[in-house]
Amino acid sequence: MSYTPEMRESIKKVEATRPARLQETFPMMSPQEKQAILEKFHPDYRAEGMREIRVGVSKGHRMPLELADVMEGASHLTSDMLDLEQIDYDTDLLIIGGGGAGSSAAMLARENGAKVIIANKLRHGDANTMMAQGGIQAADKPSDSPAIHYLDVMGGGHFTNHPDLVEALVKDAPLVIKWLEDLGCMFDKEPDGTMKTIHGGGTSRKRMHSARDYSGAEIMRTLRDEVRSYPEDITVLEFAPAIELIMDDKGQVAGAVLLNMETGEHLVVRARCTILATGGSGRLHYQGFATTNHYGATGDGLMLAYRVGAELAFLDTMQYHPTGAAYPEQIVGLLVTEKVRGLGAQVCNIDGNQFVYPRETRDVEASAFIRECTERGKGVTAPSGMVGVWLDSPMIDILHGPGTIEKALPAMVRQFGRFDIDITKEPMLVYPTLHYQNGGISLKPDGSTDIPNLFAAGEISGGVHGRNRLMGNSLLEITVFGRRAGKAAALRAREVKLGKLTLSHVDKWQQELDKVGVENPIASPILLPDYTRKLR
Ligand code: FUM
Repeated sequence: MSYTPEMRESIKKVEATRPARLQETFPMMSPQEKQAILEKFHPDYRAEGMREIRVGVSKGHRMPLELADVMEGASHLTSDMLDLEQIDYDTDLLIIGGGGAGSSAAMLARENGAKVIIANKLRHGDANTMMAQGGIQAADKPSDSPAIHYLDVMGGGHFTNHPDLVEALVKDAPLVIKWLEDLGCMFDKEPDGTMKTIHGGGTSRKRMHSARDYSGAEIMRTLRDEVRSYPEDITVLEFAPAIELIMDDKGQVAGAVLLNMETGEHLVVRARCTILATGGSGRLHYQGFATTNHYGATGDGLMLAYRVGAELAFLDTMQYHPTGAAYPEQIVGLLVTEKVRGLGAQVCNIDGNQFVYPRETRDVEASAFIRECTERGKGVTAPSGMVGVWLDSPMIDILHGPGTIEKALPAMVRQFGRFDIDITKEPMLVYPTLHYQNGGISLKPDGSTDIPNLFAAGEISGGVHGRNRLMGNSLLEITVFGRRAGKAAALRAREVKLGKLTLSHVDKWQQELDKVGVENPIASPILLPDYTRKLR
């Protein structure tokens, strides 16, 4: 299924402008232009796509409609449904979610003496970590520093980020790269053995470390192998998502109720501390967008944390990755890594003209794509009716020499090659895709939350990226805050004395839903995406 004749006509125009585009740099937008384009075209600014949540501690917080509906959902349980004295597992630390954050947390918790259970909704490692392609940022070269990294992160987040979290992120970054490498993670290297690093959108230094375009999969492979090496300390449960947190009569989090997805049984886990590492919520398909996210990304931990009183931050901002595949239809929404632009590919419209600097921050870049395809009417229409713009990948081999694309981007070559599209010779059609949840549960630098004995790490948390995340800072976030939360929770667990277990918060939650008149609430967390409903 290669391109249609109409698409080929447009590709000829892309090829025709290439020599001139190789000579000149398209200007970046001024801060005023950026703000204007965001307000007009970014989905976060579409008032009709958002609403305020009506219940809970962050009542009034704006978020996408689809998220508000599940956040205002009813529990799967009532307080009298289970005998909480019948404990199935008793542990120091329960980690809910076994992606990069949960697995990093397990390792540090074990090192600090804790017995750990990781509860996975699907299989261990079925997570957005696995889907991440382009790389992980760390300022570990002489031309760079954590201070410069800090400024880039703050700028990318429009200076709304929580400074103490950003400080933790950038300071731990070089350490995390070394840790991963010592565990066996195979980062790309120059012939002299130094790390290969490239730019991402919004970075002032080349600090993106990668493992080809399988960076997340390589990091997840490393972490999962390591976690599975310690079965005596770390128990891994699969197909066992948490459906409710358990509290004790002293107001502390004391574990969770898991659902055995194969048998339908409930499992009671009593834990001195609990870490939520359930990741993001792209499978809620905000505003009808396709997503890069893995099948289980339904935001479960947000609901569990919110029902026990955890505050929310920045859930009114989601990340739409500029380059989701727009053709062929079978791969719509899948990630086309930003590394493609990091290596020099430019973006063109139907006439082959460049219309945006290729490495604006993601929110600005995505807005420019949406403007080109809507207001300006300069997008390319695929046979499905989907409109996109060209990502001119063949430029990479022209800039860096033949064979670069195959070597640096094997996943992309394969993803499109399956449909007879050779990205070393032809551009890819792309359009923004729902990629990341910028906000989440409010977090402290050690991974703790405001709720006693409840910790969080990774995409479920909010604050570190402010209103926009830069590429490569999510693989960094999961490892930095996973490690921090694992250590802090293990130390805390040594001191915790749990009281009588209770689910009374579930009844209080239901009373609140009734009080504000939430009718027919969805049972949440929803656990798996609902593809029976029509996407908006
Ligand atoms: O484009 C990418 O490879 C995505 C990376 C990220 O979200 O950090």
